[in-house]
Amino acid sequence: MPETTPTGLTRLAFGGDYNPEQWPESVWQEDVRLMREAGVTMVSVGIFSWALLEPTHGVYDFGWLDRLLDLLHENGVRVDLGTSTVAPPVWFYREHPEALPVTPAGVRYEFGSRAAICHSNADYRAAAADITTRLAERYADHPALAMWHVHNEYGVPVSACYCDSCTAHFRRWLESTYGTVDSVNEAWGTAFWGQRYTDFEQINPPRATPTVGNPAQALDYKRFADATMRENFVMERDILHRLSPGIPVTTNFMTALSQCDSVDYWAWGREVDIVTNDHYLITDGRRTHVNLAMAADLTRSVAGGAPWLLLEHSTSGINWQARNPAKAPGQMARNSLGHVARGSDGAMFFQWRQSRRGAEKFHSAMVPHGGTDTRVWREVVELGASLDSLSTVRGTRTQGDVAVLWDWHSWWAQNLAWRPSEDHDPRERADAFYEALYDRHLTVDFAHPEADLSRYPLVVVPALYLMTEAAGRNVTAYVENGGTLVVSFFSGIVDEHDAVHEGAYPGPLRDVLGLTIEEFSPLLQGQLARITGPDGSELAGDVWTEFVVPRGAETVWTYADGLTAGHPAVTRNRLGEGTAWYVSTRLGAEGLDALLGWAVEDARIAPHVDLPRDVELVRRTGESGTYLFAINHTASDAKVPLEAHGTELLTGERAAGRIEVPAGAVRVVRLDG
Ligand code: GLA
Ligand code: ZN
Repeated sequence: MPETTPTGLTRLAFGGDYNPEQWPESVWQEDVRLMREAGVTMVSVGIFSWALLEPTHGVYDFGWLDRLLDLLHENGVRVDLGTSTVAPPVWFYREHPEALPVTPAGVRYEFGSRAAICHSNADYRAAAADITTRLAERYADHPALAMWHVHNEYGVPVSACYCDSCTAHFRRWLESTYGTVDSVNEAWGTAFWGQRYTDFEQINPPRATPTVGNPAQALDYKRFADATMRENFVMERDILHRLSPGIPVTTNFMTALSQCDSVDYWAWGREVDIVTNDHYLITDGRRTHVNLAMAADLTRSVAGGAPWLLLEHSTSGINWQARNPAKAPGQMARNSLGHVARGSDGAMFFQWRQSRRGAEKFHSAMVPHGGTDTRVWREVVELGASLDSLSTVRGTRTQGDVAVLWDWHSWWAQNLAWRPSEDHDPRERADAFYEALYDRHLTVDFAHPEADLSRYPLVVVPALYLMTEAAGRNVTAYVENGGTLVVSFFSGIVDEHDAVHEGAYPGPLRDVLGLTIEEFSPLLQGQLARITGPDGSELAGDVWTEFVVPRGAETVWTYADGLTAGHPAVTRNRLGEGTAWYVSTRLGAEGLDALLGWAVEDARIAPHVDLPRDVELVRRTGESGTYLFAINHTASDAKVPLEAHGTELLTGERAAGRIEVPAGAVRVVRLDG
């Protein structure tokens, strides 16, 4: 069995993508000296190095990588070794131009960037298997090897290819999924617009069409493309398991990035030995640390609650958004320790030394262009020391207080064309509900809609358009057995084939919510829906309203005006031992807070500590003890109450009663006992 933590690593992982091939070997000596100075414990090597390892077809040059791994080993740095298959060399493409992916409009991409790969292409698969085999044969027994890093960020920048090989592959996938072409017709509803097929050979990928194509076909193509990438991951992983037994295999995810929505990480999480994630701050004006926390919680959930590893984030600014601000002093440490608080056994970066050339030269690094007499470098060294003092945190677990249901398939389905309103974005609702829970200092586990929910007092369903009958039965049983459920509008509408559930909306949620919905009535831009509460108070929603018909549920908030005036806006239904809330409009932060306030009472969740919302509190627990992480994202000092005495690990000070967390600082208390 492969290990589930990096082999030979006894401390938290700290380091980054190390691309020394961009530098003369004389620089390597300085690199390892600086790595020692900063306390680097692991680096990722060779992710994009195929063209250097196999400069021409069948001619290999491993000399530089041998020297590099030896040097890292001599300096006590563990290695996460890339298989390099995300960057096939130019000779490969000149021999196999059809390995370049094709867009829905039939345009074939050119060589000259990265990850331009048709994952159905047999020549790519063979070449990837070959270079992986050679790397495994050569380095399986190298003492520096800690884990294998297959490919890089599957799904970006190309998530699906529409070429002829993919067409043939898709037809086989459909055959094995559906058996007969009539089952495809049934599932896709091809009676609509006369799309009926009589032979698998007639079916193409959802290529460019004059108007909206078949949504179920598009949804299945997403499943197919995801499964195809996963086949290639599994192919490399199995080679590595065979030739390099015991060494864990990973590929880096990007769990919560909306730009990377094409990968079903629930399925991928089951295939890797260690879940690893990359996270970059999305600077769209929202609180970046909330999105960070969400990414970390989602990654931990994909790992089934086990420790995972942050394989990439940035020391400061990145370079692929429209505007890329530098991080503020202390922000890097807050970010890194924020991931650790939520289950990461380390904090790694893209990348070690900032590139002088190439597409990412303005992306920050651990060793910046400005060298070591810089704030970034000083903070890197400081972070290395902090992580070192947190070594015993390794292996402990973060547990969620509440669950949020999350399903990539639903996200895919809902983002297809021609929905009731383009202003409703399921991801926006997930973010908004997450933020409302974060503000109450509740730690969130994400759960698949069919997963066991029984340990959670509260389960939130932000926007789950696609829900199977099984998912409906799951949440219904959860409530019957005493759970508290909160469901937001446009959930439970279609089945796994994007077909509307029979009967009234919201199909499999009708019973648990005690209502039906006659019609959706999305609002025009700028329009608000005023709603009034039980005590006469007022709130406003936007984007969406509905004609809700209570069938057992009590009406708590009512639409005060507009087309839906007098109809329920927020309802509450008792079922068995539990309670289910439903909200049919898009509430802002204030409304969500009010709604969650009641739900939290129903769920009998203890009121949260009286702390500013941006003082983050998270616990990790395990054999070595319980660790309270307090991260102060505010500009004022904060006092955090402690339930037991303990030792603050970053300062070494004893703590009792409460701990002072200075503005912008992080404190980690290991509680006695
Ligand atoms: C991704 C990739 C890295 C690098 C970083 C920074 O996460 O995995 O190779 O490109 O982004 O942009
Ligand atoms: Zn293809």
